[in-house]
Amino acid sequence: MSQTTTNEFPFKGMRNRSRDSMEFHTQRLLEDPFGPKVLIQLPEWVNCDPSVHVDKFVRFPSHGMGIVKGKDGRHNIVPHTGEIKIEENVIILEHATIIRPVNYFTVIGENTVIGVGAHIGHNVNIGSNVFITSKAILCGSVTVGSDVDIGAGAIIKNKVRIGKGAVIGIGAVVICDVPDGETWAGNPAKKIQ
Ligand SMILES: CC(C)(COP(=O)(O)OP(=O)(O)OC[C@H]1O[C@@H](n2cnc3c(N)ncnc32)[C@H](O)[C@@H]1OP(=O)(O)O)[C@@H](O)C(=O)NCCC(=O)NCCS
Repeated sequence: MSQTTTNEFPFKGMRNRSRDSMEFHTQRLLEDPFGPKVLIQLPEWVNCDPSVHVDKFVRFPSHGMGIVKGKDGRHNIVPHTGEIKIEENVIILEHATIIRPVNYFTVIGENTVIGVGAHIGHNVNIGSNVFITSKAILCGSVTVGSDVDIGAGAIIKNKVRIGKGAVIGIGAVVICDVPDGETWAGNPAKKIQ
């Protein structure tokens, strides 16, 4: 069974790059081309190509479920200090949520579409031409190869790798790696094609 490797993703090596080597100038304000002249302010940790479309109500929370219990039994928030890099021609639709990475980067590759209400966890690495449909949930440190389709409401467990060209069915719960080019669906998701 072939498994996706880091070599297939366009951002190999980014973990070694310093903040100064980020390619894109931070785009602080974007204009919504379809709505009224609304300026959308991006937080400083979002590095965004000027061609990217970010809809209204897209959220970039400064931390996700990075919460640990201390010896005193109290919950503490782990600081999230990474950066989000959004490549050319990405479209992010209303109410999508993209969590700030704990460290290093979250990357969204060129021509990818993130649907209404989709959730992108911390340190997720998404390739190019990926279609993430409405309300899909990508937990932390998920890797998605290029040309993947993820169906509405699908949930991808943390650290899982979705291989290049794979299709994930509507409502799937994916708890292990999906090889290149396969179609998986169900809960827990299994190969259907
Ligand atoms: C996974 C998917 C791509 C497969 O489509 P398909 O190739 O036409 O497959 P079929 O409909 O012929 O189904 C093949 C088998 O998989 C099952 N199956 C298909 N999708 C499934 C799903 N999401 N969950 C569980 N089982 C599924 C079918 O019941 C069928 O089982 P059977 O062979 O025992 O009868 C499609 O069902 C799907 O989920 N697409 C995502 C749609 C979506 O998110 N749209 C968003 C619009 S906003």
